[in-house]
Amino acid sequence: MKMRAITTIPPNGGVKFSQVSPEDGDGIKIRTYQTGICGTDKEIVLGNLKFARPEKGPSLILGHEAVGIVEDPKGNSGFKEGDIVVPMVRRPGKCRMCRLGRQDYCEDGDFVEAGIRGKNGFMRDEFIDDPRFLNKVNDPSILGLAVLTEPLKNVMKIKETFQFLRLRQPWYCDDSTLACKNMYVFGTGTEGLLISIVFRSLGMNVVQVNRHPLGETIMDFFDLNKIEYLDTSSENLDKKVKDAPMDAAIDAVGAMDVLKEITDNIANNGIAIMFGTSGQLPSSNYDVLEKLVDRNIVVAGSVDGAKSHYAEAIRFIETNGKTTGMSRLITGRYGPEDLKIFTEKENQEIKKVIAWS
Ligand code: BGC
Ligand code: ZN
Ligand code: ZN
Repeated sequence: MKMRAITTIPPNGGVKFSQVSPEDGDGIKIRTYQTGICGTDKEIVLGNLKFARPEKGPSLILGHEAVGIVEDPKGNSGFKEGDIVVPMVRRPGKCRMCRLGRQDYCEDGDFVEAGIRGKNGFMRDEFIDDPRFLNKVNDPSILGLAVLTEPLKNVMKIKETFQFLRLRQPWYCDDSTLACKNMYVFGTGTEGLLISIVFRSLGMNVVQVNRHPLGETIMDFFDLNKIEYLDTSSENLDKKVKDAPMDAAIDAVGAMDVLKEITDNIANNGIAIMFGTSGQLPSSNYDVLEKLVDRNIVVAGSVDGAKSHYAEAIRFIETNGKTTGMSRLITGRYGPEDLKIFTEKENQEIKKVIAWS
């Protein structure tokens, strides 16, 4: 018997609703509940992601953001039928970091990523997986939000990186909190919005920055979470930083000149974390470098996350998912045949989700 799947032919792209054979193997059998789509999936479909590659044969099953239900643990301890699980994207290669469970810090690039490079993803009715790469959700009431675990785990790694970097000097406020510190978050996609609520939970003031006005859903989300918003198509960033210094910044855009905007405006001893990946560096690299050195600015890159970050993301959704209005980030649920969601952008869309069962 065949099952439904969404496939592409990397690195050329395209997207197809296919019938594929179910996997067999010793792992845990999981029924897919929901999968999310993000910029990475859209870039693969457009043929823009050069590192996209199949597992075997020409086609790759898409999907790296998923939540599923254990159908058959097949004797694997620690899991039982009905458990809600979130699978990890990146699977280790052979380097030391990979062997230590830190494939997010892989030293040689010899890893695979489900639905992206070298491993079939989760956009299919069911899959078999290794229990080492499954993360359990304990609270069934977050089943509908758990699809956000994968993008949120990236944020938990960013937070960890930030916590290390700020310990260079006594950067905290006089009362030992971070309440006097402003974090600027560039970008208003799912990752940008998740970054903001996580840094609000650290007690920082958050200014979310983009270059176009936003609709009601996101504006309400900002109100609820007391996030400030700056649309640089109508207000100036350099003016804003005079009132609210840019103590730290995170780029969730990856486009063009965000790094330059940050280095031009960040306060001395500032911390910048680059997460977005779609663009190039500004051409005036020397200018940027000079600013960094003389003002003790630290710039870090961050990609993916470890198993601990998935666990932290699940706990965050369980504890704060409802109070932060996370469900507002899911702006559409579709069936697996609705392939236009990969190529068309809905008005005001944030996260689009495919429902499998
Ligand atoms: C995923 C990461 C992955 C990255 C690059 C992102 O969409 O969230 O886990 O490492 O793409 O492939
Ligand atoms: Zn993604
Ligand atoms: Zn490695």
